[in-house]
Amino acid sequence: MKIFIDTANISEIVEANSWGIVDGVTTNPSLIAREGRDLQEVINEICSIVDGPISAEVISLEADKMVEEAMELVKLHKNIVIKIPMCIEGLKAVKVLSEKKIKTNVTLIFSSQQALLAAKAGASYVSPFVGRVDDIGARGVELISEIATIFEVHDIQTEIIAASIRNPIHVSECALAGSDIATIPFKVLSQMSKHPLTDKGIEQFLSDYNNSK
Ligand code: E4P
Repeated sequence: MKIFIDTANISEIVEANSWGIVDGVTTNPSLIAREGRDLQEVINEICSIVDGPISAEVISLEADKMVEEAMELVKLHKNIVIKIPMCIEGLKAVKVLSEKKIKTNVTLIFSSQQALLAAKAGASYVSPFVGRVDDIGARGVELISEIATIFEVHDIQTEIIAASIRNPIHVSECALAGSDIATIPFKVLSQMSKHPLTDKGIEQFLSDYNNSK
């Protein structure tokens, strides 16, 4: 499973990229707003750090306006993926963009039916929101599993990005459920690297070695 980092924060991207584990980056309007910077400026900077798919989301809610925005965003870098919200207008925009060979990531997916429609329209990626499904008392990982099964049975090439990841368990469960990618916040990536027994083991090895001298 590929790992994307889910942030628009440059320091976090630089740090995680230095670990050698980042295959791509996803952003959304809330993450860009949190940085208080211009969208294109942030996306340009991210593209100069990570050599992989970089999702930048459109703001418009009408298909022709989404396509206009997308055409501006793709000028920034060859790795740009246009993130489009799941809705009828979004599907129309995805169809137009896929015919132009522009990659799209259909976001805010909460059902396998939505994922199927996005894939039919030509989406390169779909982003089911695991954490937000959990938030309403359902099981986000089951959504990943359902979409993965449907895509496999019908030989659909659209890749699944497990999004709205809130903890390390989400990551391993999404990997087991067949997600192609998980897009993970920096805090969760850090948590994934840690285990109390690893820390204890390192401490023990060092103390044994130093005591033998
Ligand atoms: C990424 O593509 C999504 O926009 C993001 O994972 C949403 O996460 P949240 O539900 O924590 O806002």
